Amino acid sequence: MKVVLAYSGGLDTSICIKWLMEEYQAEIVSLTLEIGQEKSDLKQIEEKARELGAVKTYSIDAREEFVNEFINPSIRANGFYEKVYPLSTALARPLISRYLVEIAEKEKADAVAHGSTGKGNDQVRFELAVRALNPELDIIAPAREWNLTRDGAINYARKHNIPVPVKKKSPYSIDVNLWGRSIESGPLEDLANEPRENAYSWTTSPEKAPDKPEYIELEFTKGVPSALNGGERKEVELIKELNRLGGKHGIGRIDTVEDRLVGIKSREVYECPAASVILKAHSELEKLTLSREENLFKEIIDSKWSQMVYFGQWHDPLKSDLEAFINESQHVVSGRIKMKL
Ligand code: ARG
Repeated sequence: MKVVLAYSGGLDTSICIKWLMEEYQAEIVSLTLEIGQEKSDLKQIEEKARELGAVKTYSIDAREEFVNEFINPSIRANGFYEKVYPLSTALARPLISRYLVEIAEKEKADAVAHGSTGKGNDQVRFELAVRALNPELDIIAPAREWNLTRDGAINYARKHNIPVPVKKKSPYSIDVNLWGRSIESGPLEDLANEPRENAYSWTTSPEKAPDKPEYIELEFTKGVPSALNGGERKEVELIKELNRLGGKHGIGRIDTVEDRLVGIKSREVYECPAASVILKAHSELEKLTLSREENLFKEIIDSKWSQMVYFGQWHDPLKSDLEAFINESQHVVSGRIKMKL
């Protein structure tokens, strides 16, 4: 059997390679996407997959596609789940799923695999999207089947010569892309604990941020950012720059309790400087350019769109119906917004 695995290069998905080879006698094709994780040397990740036994490896820079087809629709929809979470992890899953299916079809694979556990939203997002695109493919979620504790996983890795990070593993589960950094579990699960500074890496704490503010001017064309401080630039670069600038000024820390789609309430911490700045500016510009009736009604459409994306319903026809309304409304959402960071 041949399986295409969404491979990040981290410990868990490295274990997935060996585990799928052992339990399913599978031939593994690994797939890694660059969507702004910032650590990724793609060639090194491919090499690691081959060392672990993958028969073929793919790596793809999908940042522009991520921005154009996933982040931009979310900006137009003022995409926040439960009013605070800019959907950063949620938006990346249907993109990864699309590539899993594409590569699986190209490689004539029998199944795709992902590293998500049985507790979260991501398993549902991957599986709904893969099923929508190709219902013939089997889907394997090793981490849902293997019943390994953290220590068990480390022992498994040692036994199979999978490199285990030497420095003590961070107590958090972290997911990163251009639109934000998601931090969960460990000490955060006790609501009484304030997040420690070691949970953050993109943002300066407000206490340490500069006293002197910084002014920026963000320009939108039909609902999406097109220039920063008068200079047109590629949106990938614009987002990176706002992650840096916003982060420097302590913007974009989010600490919340979230209703997962599987019914669990979960403490979530995020750092989303660029998303916070852009979404704020976008909704201010809508207030200036849309009519009263449009503004009041669009709130309802936006919140439904965001829920659907959070719940993994990327391919549900209702979502594109909502987008027809949203896109129509954005023809006038052009102009400049000045902000003080
Ligand atoms: N709660 C967020 C979501 O469901 C983030 C999940 C992030 N995953 C992680 N491994 N930290 O979209």
